[in-house]
Amino acid sequence: MAEEAILGYLEKNEEISDSGEFASQRGLDHNEIVNVVKSLHGFRLVDAQDIKRERWVLTDEGKLYAATGSPEVQLFLAIPPGGISRDELQKKVDPSVFKIGCAQASKNKWVEIKQLVSRKVEHVEDKVKELLIRIQDGEMVEQEEIDSFKRRKLIMPQTWKGYSVRKGPNYAPKRKKAATDLTREHLQRGDWKDLDFKEYNFNAKGQPAEGGHLHPLLKMRKQLQMIFLQMGFEEMPTNNFIESSFWNFDALFQPQQHPARDSHDTFFLQAPSTTRELPEDYVERVKHVHESGGYGSRGYGYDWKRDEANKNLLRTHTTAVSSRMLYALAQKPFAPKKYFSIDRVFRNEAVDRTHLAEFHQIEGLICDRGLTLGDLIGVLYDFFSRLGMSKLRFKPAYNPYTEPSMEIFSYHEGFRKWVEIGNSGMFRPEMLLPMGLPEDVRVIAWGLSLERPTMILYGIDNIRDLFGHKVDLDLIKRNPICRIGID
Ligand code: PHE
Repeated sequence: MAEEAILGYLEKNEEISDSGEFASQRGLDHNEIVNVVKSLHGFRLVDAQDIKRERWVLTDEGKLYAATGSPEVQLFLAIPPGGISRDELQKKVDPSVFKIGCAQASKNKWVEIKQLVSRKVEHVEDKVKELLIRIQDGEMVEQEEIDSFKRRKLIMPQTWKGYSVRKGPNYAPKRKKAATDLTREHLQRGDWKDLDFKEYNFNAKGQPAEGGHLHPLLKMRKQLQMIFLQMGFEEMPTNNFIESSFWNFDALFQPQQHPARDSHDTFFLQAPSTTRELPEDYVERVKHVHESGGYGSRGYGYDWKRDEANKNLLRTHTTAVSSRMLYALAQKPFAPKKYFSIDRVFRNEAVDRTHLAEFHQIEGLICDRGLTLGDLIGVLYDFFSRLGMSKLRFKPAYNPYTEPSMEIFSYHEGFRKWVEIGNSGMFRPEMLLPMGLPEDVRVIAWGLSLERPTMILYGIDNIRDLFGHKVDLDLIKRNPICRIGID
């Protein structure tokens, strides 16, 4: 209605000079006119200029008198021609009419108020009521009257806002609804030629993607793979969760009584419970180094049992793969290698906020002649700083297969403390020499869990939200597609 009125009027007329008048002449609601003008202005169908006017509107009291008459007139009319006692009069009218009416009527010299209240004039006119109605209708009244009503708090100022309206650059006598889609029907009917299409809003946010979320561990693994590849490492084949105790422990010079080999710490397989094949001559050399040493070592001095080495298990670390790879390397003329792996390992552990029985290990190793502990420290700085962890500390540690061994700590800016992030060392001669690697070949290696840096970098505090049967799908949907910034 309002929109048609405005556009139709402008078709024949230059301008709507005052939206307020326009509305009242047509009996339209001015608020509605204002809304329509704003919308038409937004689409540039019209140009609109603000108009502001200070005007007087009636207060509640003013409205009351405009409707029922002023108190002074009401009071006057309540006085009979012969007069009335004050008390009688007070009973006859409203308390506010009595109070204000007495004051105003005696000021106007309409009445005399003593014990007896009597009229001093025969007839009065309710000019107050009349003027208030005129103000209510937006008519002009004398400044004197305005001042007096202001004093009596019958009127108050109000800023009135409206518009003057002219045709805009996109003016049309009727607004065309902009089409959002080109449909089959448009093409069939041929009316696409006359359509106005809604412009693209390139600032609108897109629909959130509902599917295809990458798990944080996958994103972290990808990032680590890229780091290793950029550093010139090759990925080791880790596609065997089942391993023999031999490659998981014995080849790594881990004695058979070692507590890690207990079923409390390791998942052993019931079927098939043992491995069928091991390289026999190498097994002999491993047995010998455990029992009585060699290569400058005294060994452990115990009775090494083949049965124990044959037991199948779920690999407890990816270092089992490293031992296979180093053995394979030793079977060929020596060439230096840089290997890495990122894959699943299993430990028979109690599950809590930071531990799972299944998790992932990241492992890196470099095999070359004459490597030193300095090389290990250097490569660790290189590797971890690519992950955004450039403050490192090392603590001497023990692993059966490395000497020296170091735990790796990184300073966490958010937690404001040093956190343990990994383990490292130089593989022992008792491990490397029975494999057949040349004597001057050294292997530096490190390992860490994939979950730990993922939790730190993605701000996840319960490992069970990240991995396992209780994984929080919402968390996986919510976490960013890629992380910008490292800490
Ligand atoms: N295998 C070790 C672990 O399970 C990690 C490690 C790898 C340590 C290589 C030293 C060298 O924690």
